[in-house]
Amino acid sequence: MDLRDRNLSPENLKAIEQFIVERRLGYQPFIFADRLEVGEGLRFHDGEASSGHIYWPDAPTEIQNLLVDCPEHFRECNRNLRTIYEFLLDTLVQKFDSNISHLTFAEIGCNTGYFLHGLGVRGAKRCLGFDFTNNKKVFEWFNQVLGINSEFYFAEWDSLSHSLRYAEIPEVDVVLSIAVLCHVADPLQHLAYLCDRARKAVLVYTPVTQDNNLSIEFGHPAKYPKALKYPLNFDNDIRLSIPLLKLALEQSGFGELYPIPCPQNVSEKWKAWFACQQGYIALRTSESKTALSSDATSDRLRTIPGDAKLTLDKIRQLQEQIEGMESSKFWKLREAWFQVKKALGLPER
Ligand SMILES: C[S@@+](CC[C@H](N)C(=O)[O-])C[C@H]1O[C@@H](n2cnc3c(N)ncnc32)[C@H](O)[C@@H]1O
Repeated sequence: MDLRDRNLSPENLKAIEQFIVERRLGYQPFIFADRLEVGEGLRFHDGEASSGHIYWPDAPTEIQNLLVDCPEHFRECNRNLRTIYEFLLDTLVQKFDSNISHLTFAEIGCNTGYFLHGLGVRGAKRCLGFDFTNNKKVFEWFNQVLGINSEFYFAEWDSLSHSLRYAEIPEVDVVLSIAVLCHVADPLQHLAYLCDRARKAVLVYTPVTQDNNLSIEFGHPAKYPKALKYPLNFDNDIRLSIPLLKLALEQSGFGELYPIPCPQNVSEKWKAWFACQQGYIALRTSESKTALSSDATSDRLRTIPGDAKLTLDKIRQLQEQIEGMESSKFWKLREAWFQVKKALGLPER
């Protein structure tokens, strides 16, 4: 997104500079001024080893390691990446006859909100973003500058429990997942969760393999310093085969799949990069939800052994008891008492 035509004020630019210093901005390709540009286009084009994702000639010393040393090439790479991003957005909007004013959107792994803000300026009714990097302040900045109202919610997909923590994605018309499936160790469950929240369509864009079978390929684990523990540590190197990606969407109720082509106005090398990913706009063709939203497994266990059922009943009974206790006046009074004691510096017991 090129914001040079927005005539950003010195205060607006100062806020962006502060976001860069705080490492909040840098991944998605934005131009804020002739002298201020961010984005990972260079790394996508030249490979992981290439450094720098900030062009800011008079940057403070603390971010020198983030600066690029070949500005023209960096800017050209980001230009191509922006072309691809804008093409994804235009293709999605065209699927809805170029009118999205009645549609709500949610994006998991929204980062600094490039796609949601792009939908906002194209007239979307409501845009909700979810990510485990807290980008609330960055969203507020874009809302103010672009005159939109993108919402940000802190949320983390937990691949161990196959669920979203800290927030719940409500049902919306369209769910987006762009370059996120490759980060989660349970891509099928993750995609099923997203599909269950989409009334009309899902836009998924993710690295894939060329395997003709139904397969998932994992790269080497723990390649980043703060990796999760095994088996959750395959960050960013998880790729579905195209047949499996199609099957996953179809099984989740999205039987009408439109592959997103590569835009023509990018260089050959970018076309090759694009070919390593697969994008679909998948339209809902069935109302049925996946096992993540229904008690599907109980249908199969036709006869539950007596002792197993007893244990399950006991757990449910205890859960209800705990929920009842927690909502009782006594419990709330007890919690308030602990808060008072803590505030007064009194020992807990
Ligand atoms: C490769 S970036 C893609 C960002 C954006 N969708 C795009 O294509 O420009 C992956 C994003 O997903 C977020 N992310 C990765 N794993 C996540 C998880 N388990 N829960 C929530 N967000 C996650 C990261 O913080 C990051 O913003």
